[in-house]
Amino acid sequence: MARVNDHYLKLAAGYLFPEITRRVNAFGEANPSADVIKLGIGDVVLPLSSAVGQAMHDAIDEMATSDGFRGYGPSEGYDFLREAIAENDFGSRGVRIDPSEIYASDGSKCDSANIQEIFAEEATLAVSDPVYPVYVDTNVMAGRTGDPDDGGRYGGIQYLPCTEESGFMPSLPDEPVDLIYLCSPNNPTGTVAPKEELLKWVDWARANDSIILFDAAYERFITEDLPHSIYEIEGARECAIEFRSFSKTAGFTGIRCAYIVIPKELQGKDSEGVSVPISQLWGRRTNTKFNGISYPVQRGAEAIYSEAGAKEVQANIDYYLANAALIKNGLSKAGFTTFGGVNAPYVWLKTPGGKDSWQFFDELLEKANVVGTPGSGFGSCGEGYFRLSAFGFREKVEEAIERITTGF
Ligand code: MLT
Repeated sequence: MARVNDHYLKLAAGYLFPEITRRVNAFGEANPSADVIKLGIGDVVLPLSSAVGQAMHDAIDEMATSDGFRGYGPSEGYDFLREAIAENDFGSRGVRIDPSEIYASDGSKCDSANIQEIFAEEATLAVSDPVYPVYVDTNVMAGRTGDPDDGGRYGGIQYLPCTEESGFMPSLPDEPVDLIYLCSPNNPTGTVAPKEELLKWVDWARANDSIILFDAAYERFITEDLPHSIYEIEGARECAIEFRSFSKTAGFTGIRCAYIVIPKELQGKDSEGVSVPISQLWGRRTNTKFNGISYPVQRGAEAIYSEAGAKEVQANIDYYLANAALIKNGLSKAGFTTFGGVNAPYVWLKTPGGKDSWQFFDELLEKANVVGTPGSGFGSCGEGYFRLSAFGFREKVEEAIERITTGF
């Protein structure tokens, strides 16, 4: 028999969202007439913007002509998309990013999972707790951790507690680390790091030769005057990588398109202590392992920045944000303690009566037929909390809140 990667055996049996699906399916089989409302995994429901759809149709028509046909594209994305991103997502906010520093990909989940590959096996890391599980699980798979303890925390990772008292902002690590994963707007807590907070992190990372892996997949949901990019912070080009995604921004969870930004200044070091540009390694990896996003998808992504596309995309974001407000206000009025939901599509709530997160999940499913995500699935500091996603149809969201606040 072939030898397997033992590190995979350290992982908890199932990834969080498939485990939720398993429980929901079991409930559905036992209760076939139940009208279950799903506000668990953050998956979009509104159709693509028509400008995006049209651009993709046009690209396919173009590919069906001899003049317009294209084979392999550049692994890191076509210039038209990288230029549109640099100008619209960064230039418009006064942030200098060169198109060549942008690498288009098939998702931020994949990017935030794959990035660790270009760092040494001995590289150390810190994550916030609660945390998007991908950051942790992929480092476990790569052998960068020990076994989990009873609370599910892996040896060798510095966990940075995010508590109600600290406004769900992680504290700085006690010891220097190579990699720090930060997510803002945060999944799962829905909170956003203000400028002074990011400044603190950038200063710390530069002083300690660390690299910040900054997940900004939800930045389009920011409504207040808060940073959308780590590069709004002076010095971040020397110490940070940023992940962005079209998934939630423009309904691309099924289409797949995202990107990663690696500034030219960002350096790591080899075993001899010699500086190595991080972009060189990521570029090499990309060229070896990836043939790029399909041309029609990249044309669709580009259309998000057209006048019509931008309006339509914003309308969808506003719709989800209005859902988030309904969830937050409805629950708060009913006496729940809620967080997030203003600059993010997630509402983070305290489970009532001190119930544990999975107990609340099961009760909510059984009594209200509503699915959410147990906070403990994101880490031990998520215990006693619960996440509701605003990605649903309005009437379903209203109905879910009605059921939770009256019958539950
Ligand atoms: C979530 O619900 O946390 C996200 O949808 C997961 C993801 O984007 O992979």
